[in-house]
Amino acid sequence: MRLSFLAAGLLVPSAYAFWRLPCATPVVNSRIDPIISPGKASSHAHTIMGSNAIGYNTQFGDLRSSQCTTCMVRDDKSAYWIPELYYQNGKGFQAVDHGGMVVYYLQRNAANETVEAFPDGLRMFTGNPYSRSFAGTSESKAISWNCINFNGPGQPDTPGFGNTNCPNGLRAQVFFPACWDGVNLDSPDHKSHMAYPDSVDSGQCPSTHPHHLVSIFFEVWFNVAQFNNLNDGGRFVLANGDPTGYGLHGDFLNGWDRSVLSRAVQTCTDGSGVIENCPVFQNEGRFVSNADMNSCAASNPLQENVSGPIPNLPGCVAVTNGPGPASSTDLVPGCTAAASRRSSDEDLAARAPEAVPGVNRRSHRAMRGQDWLLSV
Ligand SMILES: *[C@@H]1O[C@H](CO)[C@@H](O)[C@H](O)[C@H]1NC(C)=O
Ligand SMILES: *[C@@H]1O[C@H](CO)[C@@H](O)[C@H](O)[C@H]1NC(C)=O
Repeated sequence: MRLSFLAAGLLVPSAYAFWRLPCATPVVNSRIDPIISPGKASSHAHTIMGSNAIGYNTQFGDLRSSQCTTCMVRDDKSAYWIPELYYQNGKGFQAVDHGGMVVYYLQRNAANETVEAFPDGLRMFTGNPYSRSFAGTSESKAISWNCINFNGPGQPDTPGFGNTNCPNGLRAQVFFPACWDGVNLDSPDHKSHMAYPDSVDSGQCPSTHPHHLVSIFFEVWFNVAQFNNLNDGGRFVLANGDPTGYGLHGDFLNGWDRSVLSRAVQTCTDGSGVIENCPVFQNEGRFVSNADMNSCAASNPLQENVSGPIPNLPGCVAVTNGPGPASSTDLVPGCTAAASRRSSDEDLAARAPEAVPGVNRRSHRAMRGQDWLLSV
């Protein structure tokens, strides 16, 4: 099955309400992943949206007490991330800009289920960074790409990179599992406390995971056209060393005020996805301004150039073509990854400009909900 009905946004069943949460810009681009790699630099670079409390050891309480977010609802201090995308050519690797993320919040359930808000402290991870071919599992069906050309017919989603010559963006898409076991906020593999419903993006939850939470779906539009126009024979590679796209993955660290999310899930009945049509957000003054979204930044614990051009991927990750799976030991011989630096504010201030918080965060066009009506 494909998920294109959702990704294309053309045939979203009207029976389900949803809203699109715009996240205008990354809060930081860095080798940070408090779910998979707590306490240390992660193996590969991520582009992270949301709360500025994101760091190596971020917990729910840190998110809740954080001061700002690059997403549009002030009561959502969650963190959302996927790997950085690079263009690789003879000059090395250059990060591909994107216009932030749109997170779809979809109130989907089977007839005998109710949609629930995320429990405090929930964290989850989906996709497989080591995949280099289609695995046929629910999880691999939840990962997809779409090549956007506003002047041509809509293209089907592909499970890996299909056509990457996309005038209006190459869109990374990650659908998260919505069924929760009701007990564990995380699990050793960061996955098994969650499960997919029977149609992956909708349907019935399994009896082992009977709580149907609100579904989330990430979309990130990468501006690939500037690189395709170079016509230099380069290719696109995810930060986890993946030139196939099958290794796309996503992480979510819940930072919502649960009472606000609960009321939104219960009372936002609009089927258009326009977030301004949700009274809990619109009528209660819960939106963050474009200026505040764009000025929110997290400190980067690494003195490392992730934007490029750089000779090797951050963390010295080797590019592996597959189709067999990659492994964590696939590193570029002789390459030395940047080490974490001391992180007190004084140290930050004393260091070179590239070490100052926020500089690794490229600036992006701010988006509001309305813009997305035109493009999805
Ligand atoms: C809901 O309905 C499905 C399909 O009839 C059934 O398998 C499942 O056990 C039911 N779940 C609950 C919580 O009643
Ligand atoms: C990263 O390195 C490249 C190449 O040396 C340089 O042009 C670019 O300005 C650097 N970016 C940052 C953020 O330091």
